[in-house]
Amino acid sequence: MNFKNLLLEQPEPGLYLLTINRPRALNALNAATLAELMQAIACVSADAGARALLVTGSGDKAFVAGADIAEMQGLSAVQAQAFSVAGMNVMHGLEALSVPVIALVNGYALGGGCELAMACDWIIASDRAVFGQPEVNLGIPPGFGGTQRLTRLVGRARALELVTTARQVRAEEALAIGLVTRVVPAAELREAGLAVARSIAAKAPVAVRLAKQAVQRGQDLDLASACTHETSLFALTFATADQKEGMRAFVEKRAARFLGE
Ligand code: CAA
Repeated sequence: MNFKNLLLEQPEPGLYLLTINRPRALNALNAATLAELMQAIACVSADAGARALLVTGSGDKAFVAGADIAEMQGLSAVQAQAFSVAGMNVMHGLEALSVPVIALVNGYALGGGCELAMACDWIIASDRAVFGQPEVNLGIPPGFGGTQRLTRLVGRARALELVTTARQVRAEEALAIGLVTRVVPAAELREAGLAVARSIAAKAPVAVRLAKQAVQRGQDLDLASACTHETSLFALTFATADQKEGMRAFVEKRAARFLGE
């Protein structure tokens, strides 16, 4: 697909790399970019051969420096609500993708950029990454889900500290508080992401999708309901050829050949 503000590539079969591509505005999310993100998500969602999606920003300075402030400044409250909903839909869309989605944060991930990274399933950061929710500097609170996803990731006290002070967090601190899972040298970020995506693509696809579903759906349920949901998904995989193949391969001491069915 051809986009104005995004690049959607398939560097290897089944692996998608989505790049927010407005480097002159530090990849800020304007309404047009949000609309393109919905299209890109739909494109990955429609591909039964998709195995993982990597999300990053173009250039070496920013992942995404936030929602587009120049575009937002003149909005009415009604327009601001629509803009927030458009951003929320992108974040929900990423979470709803059946395949794992990994953010590769290569620089500033501020405001809507931090929110975009947090809507991915996990974050690998370059050693140059900087995270923050600086919206209170602009007279607004976060509006693409930052107050909620940050709280779920780092806890209420840390989230409140970060959203009320606008303090920025560098990669090592982001790792220490659980906002990111790994920090790698900037030059190695893309390869680190591709290596993880490749390792996912080598697993049983249905099992990977159901594992993501169990985690995603389960976190908003009480423990007993979430475990019942997990039982259903676990049992469902025994109807797949890949479960038979995976266990047979273990018993026969050979590598499994998964078909995705
Ligand atoms: N929106 C629009 N344009 C942006 C932008 C943003 N969020 N962030 C940066 N830019 C633009 C700058 O205006 C500048 O454009 P020009 O060259 O045309 O002047 C260009 O990108 C480069 O930025 P700087 O010159 O500011 O670069 P810097 O290295 O001096 O600073 C920065 C980098 C610290 C990231 C700084 O750009 C900055 O603070 N950006 C804004 C961060 C921010 O407040 N994000 C939150 C936005 S609100 C939000 O996201 C709400 C929400 O939750 C939905």
